Amino acid sequence: MNRNLIAIRTMPNDEITGLLDLAAEFKAKINAGEDVPSMKKTVIGLLFFENSTRTRVSFEQAAFYLGMRSSNFATSASSMTKGETLKDTILTLRHERINGLVMRHKSSGAPMLAAKHFGGPVLNAGDGQHEHPTQALADALTILERKTSLEGLNVSIVGDVEHSRVARSNAWLLDKLGANVRLVGPRTLLPPHPSMLPGECYDELEEGISGADVIICLRLQRERMAEGMISSIGEYASLYQINADTLRFANPGCLVMHPGPINRGVEIDDVTADGDSAVINQQVENGVFVRMAAFYWCFGGQQS
Ligand code: NCD
Repeated sequence: MNRNLIAIRTMPNDEITGLLDLAAEFKAKINAGEDVPSMKKTVIGLLFFENSTRTRVSFEQAAFYLGMRSSNFATSASSMTKGETLKDTILTLRHERINGLVMRHKSSGAPMLAAKHFGGPVLNAGDGQHEHPTQALADALTILERKTSLEGLNVSIVGDVEHSRVARSNAWLLDKLGANVRLVGPRTLLPPHPSMLPGECYDELEEGISGADVIICLRLQRERMAEGMISSIGEYASLYQINADTLRFANPGCLVMHPGPINRGVEIDDVTADGDSAVINQQVENGVFVRMAAFYWCFGGQQS
């Protein structure tokens, strides 16, 4: 059975834990040099309408490990610059017999539209400020490798929560698997209606990360932000930066995470980003394995 992977919010818990188990299994096999399933008859289209380093390369790497072929559409070089609609682009790829799509788009909901016209599996690689499901899976795998369970963990998501699809997917996933989620940031960058996302809102950093077992730092999404939402980057950094001084309020052994790209000196300082509490590189590495699991799951575990 083919499936789409669009949002964590609507995924049943057993599907989330199944994907995490599968990713851990793929990681163990790749690290041991053992065989993983071959999906060599599958061609995946990578459509990145927004910039990406980590996510795009890790989807490519995941496809490579599974023996798939990936076809990269640099959207600036596609017919969309000639006025073609998203719908017609998707229909073209479908009739060229591309088997599945990975899609990043600035509009929330674009992967749903693509799935409607494409039919085959569509994997959301980040849509607007809606969701980024595979990032949340990579983050959960990284936490689980160090804390064993998410149940009862205090996880503070700090920064521009309002514009962050990473914050949304993480809040849903962590809440579903039993963590206590806190959303921390200036009021203008927290969800306007607290009931829109699971978790308690805090506009004071010390209170928001006090007793935290995990802190997820977020980049200020200036490309999605209206003027005047923060008074200045300097003031934001002085109130919300994760550094040795502020990390004292968290629990000993607190993990510091960041989905990247990092704006060093803004949401996190150099020493913390490169320090022993940070698991940022491990998040990147796990991104490859959760995307392998996502491909395998979306194509119904098909092997050839
Ligand atoms: C994030 C994104 O694009 O949503 N990056 C990522 O995929 N790892 C976060 C960001 O851009 O700040």
